[in-house]
Amino acid sequence: MNIHIINGPNLNLLGVREKSIYGDSSFDTYLTGLKSKYPAVNITYYQSNVEGELINKLHEIGFSEDGIVLNAGAYTHTSVAIADAIAAITTSVVEVHISNVHKREEFRHHSYLSANCKGIIVGFGMDGYRLAIESLIVK
Ligand code: DQA
Repeated sequence: MNIHIINGPNLNLLGVREKSIYGDSSFDTYLTGLKSKYPAVNITYYQSNVEGELINKLHEIGFSEDGIVLNAGAYTHTSVAIADAIAAITTSVVEVHISNVHKREEFRHHSYLSANCKGIIVGFGMDGYRLAIESLIVK
């Protein structure tokens, strides 16, 4: 099984950025632990701060992977283009947010992406990525 994790803007700074909200682990450290929990799953990872690059990656992998776990960061709340890319591809996408966006500023309460995703996992910290993988494995 091939699952691709995509992180959007500022998520390269996990472990450094706003630790009280996002925790103190880097994504690379978290990913090493995650991969060891799922030896039978081929988990690949991509991060970009650029909207068009995220769209290009969705196009590139979105017809062949078994599942995509997407944390689009702030683009979640702004990007019709990423929503359209999710609608255009055939691979199921699970939307993840580390923080509980509904407890935060109102502009974070709306997602352009959710309606085109298989489901959403919000507010469970980094464990949200594992929960998303579980949901894709079960199908
Ligand atoms: C986030 C929530 C977004 O509102 C924010 O812009 C992020 C991270 C999260 O994982 O909690 O960059 O997607």
